[in-house]
Amino acid sequence: MKRELVIVIDFGGQYNQLVARRVRECNVYCEIYSYKTDIGKIKEMNPMGIILTGGPNSCYEADSPTCSRELFELGIPVLGLCYGAQLMMHVLGGKVERADVREYGKTEVIIDKMDSKVFEEVVSPTICWMSHFDSISKAAPGFEITAHTADCPVAAAENEAEKLYAIQYHPEVLHTVEGTKMLSNFVHGVCGCAGDWRMDSFVEESIRTIREKVGDGKVLCALSGGVDSSVAAVMLSKAIGSQLTCVFVDHGLLRKNEGDEVEAVFGPEGNYDLNFVRVNAQERFYGKLAGVAEPEEKRKIIGEEFIRVFEEEAKKIGAVDFLVQGTIYPDVVESGLGGESAVIKSHHNVGGLPDYVDFKEIIEPLRDLFKDEVRKAGLEMGIPEYLVFRQPFPGPGLGVRIVGEVTAEKVKMVQDADAIYREEIQNAGLDKGIGQYFAALTNMRSVGVMGDERTYDYAVALRAVNTVDFMTAEAAEIPWSVLQKVTSRIVNEVAHVNRVLYDCTGKPPGTIELE
Ligand code: XMP
Repeated sequence: MKRELVIVIDFGGQYNQLVARRVRECNVYCEIYSYKTDIGKIKEMNPMGIILTGGPNSCYEADSPTCSRELFELGIPVLGLCYGAQLMMHVLGGKVERADVREYGKTEVIIDKMDSKVFEEVVSPTICWMSHFDSISKAAPGFEITAHTADCPVAAAENEAEKLYAIQYHPEVLHTVEGTKMLSNFVHGVCGCAGDWRMDSFVEESIRTIREKVGDGKVLCALSGGVDSSVAAVMLSKAIGSQLTCVFVDHGLLRKNEGDEVEAVFGPEGNYDLNFVRVNAQERFYGKLAGVAEPEEKRKIIGEEFIRVFEEEAKKIGAVDFLVQGTIYPDVVESGLGGESAVIKSHHNVGGLPDYVDFKEIIEPLRDLFKDEVRKAGLEMGIPEYLVFRQPFPGPGLGVRIVGEVTAEKVKMVQDADAIYREEIQNAGLDKGIGQYFAALTNMRSVGVMGDERTYDYAVALRAVNTVDFMTAEAAEIPWSVLQKVTSRIVNEVAHVNRVLYDCTGKPPGTIELE
């Protein structure tokens, strides 16, 4: 069966992945493409709808990203958002100018055409998220104005007959109270999508496809215990059982007890039909890291060593037919293959592909999914919730949470402090409300006093951030009583720690991890 498809054309704005995610929340499959994508290719894809996103430029300037008039003449419904709306007007003969008043933030939008298909069941006035310098001063011929604000005469416009819709604000942002409803109205009401994108059918279909593709071949998977590789491994296991071998490298930089927890789920006593190989490479990693304090060097060493260990294990297994990668859709978009707003976080990729693993083809079962969809797929397959809702954990692990040289003793300190912190955050019922939280070990030693004795020990830094996309973040406000309890437990229970600090820095100027 052919999947219904809506495409997002990316003009470089910050919310572009969010648009695609919201559309998928409406059970409609959606992919992101650069505005440079050839119109022939778009026709070939034959999407049921096209959404033009926001972007940082002014559409009337000569070298700004643009699109052809033909895009609006394909007979495919088009929804332009922010820059996309301005571009639609500009290309079709309306006028866009620098506005007198810059609109930013939550804004009351008054709907002028209550029977507009995109405003079905939306109540006027409605709160929307605005972020623009330019604005549409004149709608293009054939368009009627369907909404306005106090400062913006054209907050929305449409040409119903041609199925073209322009919206100045950002329905994809949650601050736009009825934004998802508007997007749903567009994809269902205007584009006519029935909504066939469901995680249960995706999982079923993927398992079937993998089974057909692999046949009686052998498959190798590097399992980290993180969400993506765990979900990929379980999907493969359900498809081909013991034809799959998962190699789990314990680099000694995992959270407390994590290695054993991964083994408990995926190992011989666990829940899945697969071959599980755990490599206890702690000493090897500590050896390589001895005396190294520079963050980038540490990251490189950990990444390279990881690949070497994995390769050695792979050699023992011998030639395989397929190698599994836990690539997810944001990786595809951010590596420049999808949209326009490419940010390549090279330092986040621990190593890349192993050079010497003998395999014929790569399988990326989660390549089409956003993170929240990976989680849904995981739940669908019965993976325990605590694994599915894991916080992000960096590939170099505690290596980037120990400032300066990494030693086994410091790893133990940070593991113990982190375990206490996580336990107390959970006890206080705060765990679901914080984006990411962990303890790190500073490289600072200071003087303290314990039981009448002088101490000269390390300081633990507690980190907790709220974030939407991990690109920016704010320090979370944790109740003082919780911090006090965590502090007193850490200082009492963790040897060689005599001070606890709370990191109040946002990102920017900090990063979430300490290195
Ligand atoms: P930063 O520290 O760059 O982190 O603000 C942003 C998010 O990415 C995670 N992170 C990593 N993830 N490999 C990963 O897989 C890495 O090397 C890495 N470094 C940071 C970090 O935990 C946060 O969620």
